[in-house]
Amino acid sequence: MTTLTRLPDDYVQNPHAVHDLLRAEGPVQEVILPHGLKAWLVTRYDEAKIALTDPRVSKNIQEGGHLMAKHSTQTHVRREVEPTLAVHMLNLDPPHHTRLRKLVTKAFTARRIELMRPRVQEIAAELIAKLNDGDEVDLLEVFAFPLPITVICELLGIPIDNRDDFREWSNQLLSFGTPEQVELAASSMAGFLFQHVTAIAEAEPNDTFFSALVHTDDSGDRLSTEELISMAFLLLVAGHETTVNLIGNAVLSLLRNPDQLQVLKDRPELIPASTEEFLRLEGPINVATFRYTKEPIELGDVTVPADEILMVSLIAANRDPQRYENADQLDVTRSAQGHVAFGHGIHFCLGAPLARLEFDVALTQLLARFPNLTLAAEPETLGWRDSTLIRGLHTLPVRLA
Ligand code: HEM
Repeated sequence: MTTLTRLPDDYVQNPHAVHDLLRAEGPVQEVILPHGLKAWLVTRYDEAKIALTDPRVSKNIQEGGHLMAKHSTQTHVRREVEPTLAVHMLNLDPPHHTRLRKLVTKAFTARRIELMRPRVQEIAAELIAKLNDGDEVDLLEVFAFPLPITVICELLGIPIDNRDDFREWSNQLLSFGTPEQVELAASSMAGFLFQHVTAIAEAEPNDTFFSALVHTDDSGDRLSTEELISMAFLLLVAGHETTVNLIGNAVLSLLRNPDQLQVLKDRPELIPASTEEFLRLEGPINVATFRYTKEPIELGDVTVPADEILMVSLIAANRDPQRYENADQLDVTRSAQGHVAFGHGIHFCLGAPLARLEFDVALTQLLARFPNLTLAAEPETLGWRDSTLIRGLHTLPVRLA
């Protein structure tokens, strides 16, 4: 038996405190989110993994999307996202999901990702070369954002001049803008990607990732134009909204924990393995993407009825004290394996190897060049983005040294 809990309006500013209370009460609660959506929120680790994999839970937005309106407590309901952008893997169940994932996995090989390392290092070095000791900068703006967006634009063969447009559209789509703002951003993005996909399809195939994806042919199967547009959209948004905030959140955690910063400065060879701890402690995705129950499902001692929106807080699961000792503390030497920052099950992040590579390169170069960087604002004054999906700061002011 659970009661309906209204999450505080400032939930996104300190979700961990709210999660601690909810998790102590039970594995899942019926809540009203700050912008009025009623959903079931999973905060415990074991139940999060069940919710992410149970076949009674669906991600099919075409069938379950109407539940957003049904469970909204506001009259001002967010409209459906542009259909051309919606037929991507994160909105589908097997067998459709299986088909798309197989086609993209063929083009997104581990080899192709590892081959990108020198280029990622070059992009990071170019960004760092523009910065000087003593500068006070927003680290998100000058480093954490341009690195992944440059990488993903190059992967997709998109001119970098368009990156500010993407940032704007993507921000609108993931935040609580007005329906008009969301619609405009979606149609602008869809229009741009349609032109891009058509141009690549008409050009001679080449060895780049996106050309391989457009021209991929798996026993006669290939992606339709609509599927390619959705796929490009998903890769573009997933490819930068997350990594930028992993870098930002990690640097903030380090600056707030100087002893841990010192460990990585003394032993930079620990940085690749420490990536898992940064993902666990303050991963860039709070609540995983849309899911709903097709049938009733038991999570611990709670039964969530059918036709309910099921939200899994990955950052809450990753701080479950039953799973990780001193779960709220940063320990760059701990083994944080098993965290769910990249999700779990069939939708496990496809870009995880690329994200890990980018993070490793970013932190290694940043700490090597500016080992004495400090926060240029009181931590309490930093604001978090108004999104239940993205856990990321608006700005990260630092003084470089
Ligand atoms: C730190 C960086 C990243 C984090 C924390 C992250 C996290 C996630 C999570 C949690 C999911 C599953 C969501 C759910 O089940 O609701 C996911 C899926 C996905 N991610 Fe990432 N991601 C990151 C970077 C990337 C990058 C760089 C790319 C691509 C270039 C990418 C592409 C994808 C795709 C395509 C899916 C959908 C997979 C599917 O549905 O089968 N991600 N990611």
